[in-house]
Amino acid sequence: MQEKKIELSFILAHLNELSAQEQQLVANAKSAFKTAYAPYSGFLVGASVLLENGEVINGSNQENIAYPSGLCAERVALFYAGAKFPDVKINTVAISVLSKNFEVKDVISPCGACRQVMAEYEDKQDKPIKVILHSPTDEVLIANRVEDLLPFIFKNSLLKQH
Ligand code: THU
Repeated sequence: MQEKKIELSFILAHLNELSAQEQQLVANAKSAFKTAYAPYSGFLVGASVLLENGEVINGSNQENIAYPSGLCAERVALFYAGAKFPDVKINTVAISVLSKNFEVKDVISPCGACRQVMAEYEDKQDKPIKVILHSPTDEVLIANRVEDLLPFIFKNSLLKQH
């Protein structure tokens, strides 16, 4: 038996330390959460995806009375980006949040399913996707690659014999 450790790397910063382009992407995510349809949770999430061709695709969470039928903001934006620009790589994803019920102080933490979806695109494009998690207090947590948000990722290569 052997204990092993893995190292994850992320950056904590204030919004104003980001580049102008990244601050703009966070601003887009903040605008996007205003379009959330979240009557059940009151938790409004916005995701903004910057593609390598400069296009920006925004998404917000869309809930449903049959709860599992709803979809998170990240997947709304990522699937739309994938559908509209199937061959264009993803550069950065910014995610922001606001709750109608309480004061959110932490950065939004994407659910496992959204991390898995981001990981799929990262694997597909063979290039890291930067993920910027934004809090209403303007703190940001930045992962330079999705793999840092989802260790032991299940990816394409695990489905094939080496
Ligand atoms: N949600 C997102 O859209 N993204 C996340 O990263 C976490 C959760 C949504 C799903 C649901 O509409 C609401 O937030 C509460 O879970």
